[in-house]
Amino acid sequence: MTKRCGRFAAGIAVGVVMASPVAAQNGQPQQAQTARVISDTGRLKGPRQPIFFRHDVHAGQDRIPCMYCHSSVAVSSEPGIPAVQTCFGCHQLISGSTPSHQAEIKKVQQAWIGKQPPQWIRVHALPGFVRFPHMRHIKLLGPQSCATCHGQVERMPQVYQVSTLKMGWCVSCHVQRGVSRDCTLCHY
Ligand code: HEC
Ligand code: HEC
Ligand code: HEC
Ligand code: HEC
Ligand code: HEC
Repeated sequence: MTKRCGRFAAGIAVGVVMASPVAAQNGQPQQAQTARVISDTGRLKGPRQPIFFRHDVHAGQDRIPCMYCHSSVAVSSEPGIPAVQTCFGCHQLISGSTPSHQAEIKKVQQAWIGKQPPQWIRVHALPGFVRFPHMRHIKLLGPQSCATCHGQVERMPQVYQVSTLKMGWCVSCHVQRGVSRDCTLCHY
């Protein structure tokens, strides 16, 4: 489903914090936090992305629900990265409050106008011989469970991998939760 964000954009533009019941259902922190100013991006953990897109700004400070952007997380084995259209829905209006924000947001607008989606670098990637149905996990662990596996993404200026994603990590949670650990559950 493609989403334009008239409602959110208007709310954010006038500084209204999004209604917490909506946020609470979507893996959102209860408290909004102000994202820090970052002068040295070279020291951040995680791969450098083609646009310096900050989760601590969007999901932390502005409290946009994770599922507003990762909308297929509960229904697909690949949660996916949002299309530029989702970004542009807000960024045709929001051009940024500091020169560095403006420079990065300009890249979003250029990506939209030039029809050249950013080539986001994948942070988490399991080997091809492993089956990981993402949506089954969200169904059982709940839409608030993102931090269990991904850490506090809403505090990360740049996303990095927190869990090992090794077999032992998968299996130990399965043991704790009484889920099967047959080899064929995870291996084709
Ligand atoms: C405004 C849109 C937006 C929101 C809101 C958002 N994300 Fe993201 N997310 C992205 C984009 C774009 C990327 C790819 C670029 C990057 O890695 O920063 C991404 C990447 C990620 C990744 C890394 C994916 C990979 O390559 O392995 C994870 C994990 C993630 N987001 C989790 C979350 C969680 C958890 C929340 C809520 C706390 C959230 N996101 C909120 C847009 C968003
Ligand atoms: C049980 C652990 C677990 C939970 C809970 C979980 N994830 Fe993930 N997530 C993973 C793993 C493992 C991968 C890598 C999957 C792969 O490589 O096939 C991943 C990949 C992703 C990706 C990158 C996928 C892509 O298509 O590029 C995003 C985005 C993401 N998760 C977002 C979320 C969000 C948002 C939540 C909460 C609603 C969440 N995850 C909850 C384990 C989890
Ligand atoms: C719901 C509205 C909304 C959506 C959707 C949205 N943004 Fe933003 N974005 C904002 C707001 C608000 C700011 C803060 C602007 C400021 O004060 O400088 C911001 C700031 C930014 C900045 C500068 C700060 C930073 O995060 O580094 C970049 C770059 C950016 N957005 C990229 C994106 C991209 C890429 C997407 C799509 C994946 C996206 N945005 C989706 C509202 C949104
Ligand atoms: C934080 C706990 C947790 C972690 C970590 C975890 N899982 Fe799971 N997993 C679960 C739960 C709970 C279920 C039961 C879901 C159900 O019954 O639908 C499950 C079910 C599954 C299933 C079966 C889904 C189905 O269709 O029946 C597979 C496959 C799976 N996990 C693979 C993995 C892999 C691979 C990893 C590591 C990359 C992993 N899991 C990490 C909790 C976890
Ligand atoms: C809950 C999910 C899960 C179950 C159950 C599981 N595995 Fe794995 N396995 C993984 C993941 C994830 C990886 C890739 C990460 C790694 O190498 O640890 C992996 C990797 C492997 C590898 C490659 C290791 C390497 O070093 O390249 C082998 C071999 C393997 N598994 C065998 C098994 C056997 C045999 C069983 C049954 C006794 C089993 N697995 C059960 C998730 C699982």
